[in-house]
Amino acid sequence: MCGIIGATGQSAVTEILLDGLARLEYRGYDSAGVVLQSDGDLWRARVATGTRSLEDLRKVVDGAPHAGEALTGIGHTRWVTHGHPTEGNAHPIMDCSGRVAVVHNGIIENWRALTARLVSDGHVRNSDTDTEVLAHLVEEELATGVSLVEAVRATLREVNGTFALAVVCEGEPGTIVAARRVSPLVIGLAEAGAGGEELGEALLASDIPALIGRTRRLWALEDDQIAELRPGSVRVTTLAGKEVEPSVLNVSRDLEAAEKGGHPDFMGKEIHEQPRAISDTLLDRLLPDGTFALDELRISDEDLARVDKVFIVACGSSYHAGLVAKYAIEHWSRLPTEIDIASEFRYRDPVLDERTLVIGVSQSGETIDTLQAMREARQWSAKVLVISNVVDSSMARESDGVLYTRAGPEVGVASTKTHLAQIVALEVLALHLAQLHRRMPPADARMLFASLEGLPGLVKEVLDREEQVEKVARKFLDTRDFFFLGRHVGYPVALEGALKLKEISYVRAEGYPAGELKHGPIALIEPGAVVVGVATRTRLWEKMMGNVAEVKSRGATVVLVANDGDHDTAEQADEVLWVPSTDPLLAPVVDVVPLQLFAYHLARARGHDVDRPRNLAKTVTVE
Ligand code: AGP
Repeated sequence: MCGIIGATGQSAVTEILLDGLARLEYRGYDSAGVVLQSDGDLWRARVATGTRSLEDLRKVVDGAPHAGEALTGIGHTRWVTHGHPTEGNAHPIMDCSGRVAVVHNGIIENWRALTARLVSDGHVRNSDTDTEVLAHLVEEELATGVSLVEAVRATLREVNGTFALAVVCEGEPGTIVAARRVSPLVIGLAEAGAGGEELGEALLASDIPALIGRTRRLWALEDDQIAELRPGSVRVTTLAGKEVEPSVLNVSRDLEAAEKGGHPDFMGKEIHEQPRAISDTLLDRLLPDGTFALDELRISDEDLARVDKVFIVACGSSYHAGLVAKYAIEHWSRLPTEIDIASEFRYRDPVLDERTLVIGVSQSGETIDTLQAMREARQWSAKVLVISNVVDSSMARESDGVLYTRAGPEVGVASTKTHLAQIVALEVLALHLAQLHRRMPPADARMLFASLEGLPGLVKEVLDREEQVEKVARKFLDTRDFFFLGRHVGYPVALEGALKLKEISYVRAEGYPAGELKHGPIALIEPGAVVVGVATRTRLWEKMMGNVAEVKSRGATVVLVANDGDHDTAEQADEVLWVPSTDPLLAPVVDVVPLQLFAYHLARARGHDVDRPRNLAKTVTVE
């Protein structure tokens, strides 16, 4: 969730740092800062002005003499974990002398004990962060006369927890030392300057988009590896000091794809990219014989055919996609399928063995809860695969297999196109499992795949009705409480509709399985309550309409997602969000779209920044 950037070269790197931080802004931040180095001296600028921090940081840097000429620098956008979001807690954090500067993502778990020891040894604390112990420990090591890389190596032996970090010091101008454990970090090397007389910049960042356009020579740092960056060179060693070849990253994303393309915000653009995200995710997946081409899966058909139980682990919208997949996998392949919120999974003693398939679902591939749940599963010898939108993400690298969603970069904090792409990828996987478990003949799989291929057109039809959804949303500008209800696969749609609304509109919105209504929530239904129901024609439609009647008779205003031409449903609604129909198990892909648009327009009409909702980060890399 915090962002890190670093660069060292033979000409000014200031713009690389500020531009890189701006490209990481989708990760969310409450403060930002840089340390720039020229002629050995370190110069630091930090601001804590919330979502204006980057803009303000640029002003401070632009106004400072010589800041634009620095040859080495590190920068950070911070999303608070320890201490308040103040300027004093913003990174880079320095040691007592101001000669060492550190940027850090993650959490140093033993920071309290280390701080107590450092303070009793005479160090003076200058922030409330866990990160600060790193700066003082490096300071202590440097005082013994070792190089910066050795000082960092020794420091990392003392700390527990997670980190991606970069360190510079006055004694070694031009050198950046970086390291990671759990939190991601990529390093890169730019081509030599024109004529070859100038060495290319050595670069580092917490995520690839920060470096796109700077170089295509990128490597992922693995856990407990340390990188030394100098102009024209990167050297990677293990914590034990052994030199290693870092793993090369394949970069196919381009920056243009991360621009808004005429939409007022990324979320609007990404909602409209959904038909494309679905068709790209399906591209070339079905072979002429009715079987599937899932190359990156890397788990053999034999192993998948032996699987006797499936677990899905995920968070937030990815969890909702997984919930849809549970219905599909159980229905099509008859494999018992459990789904867990990833942060609960590893603490509940799940029963797994080598015949269990654990599917992690994560657009970023970096969410710490999901990553740790998958690591737990591997310890039990389960087969682990991830549905991810990010090539070479930590989850992708640590799993037995991957199925990539091909939605392109998603910048809006609220997931939209990656959510739809996840459902589609999971359903392809469900069909594949059904075939391997001899529950579905190729002809049926072909038919269902054809229905999947029809989804982009149906989603486009819903998007073409955006104005109608906006009109409905505007009627609820003053509503503070919403209930979202659904049954069967309409239930995850209700959960996702509620999550979207609360994330970006800041109103209370709860999603329930409609059958649960009578077991408690109905006590809250009174005149003025607004109930949004997923009432498309799945096999539980009649029961769903029974629940609609219950809330209506208690005075609720009812908004229903209904299939085109379904007047029986429309008659029961105060407002209707129309959608075309499809196979019931695929319907969530279509039915959730008007709810995304509903949340989007309500939030915009309330004047909220839909791309950067308060308190939220795009990638959650701390537990
Ligand atoms: C969705 O709108 C959210 N912002 C959030 O719930 C998200 O889906 C969750 O944090 C999981 O992220 P991941 O898919 O990158 O693992």
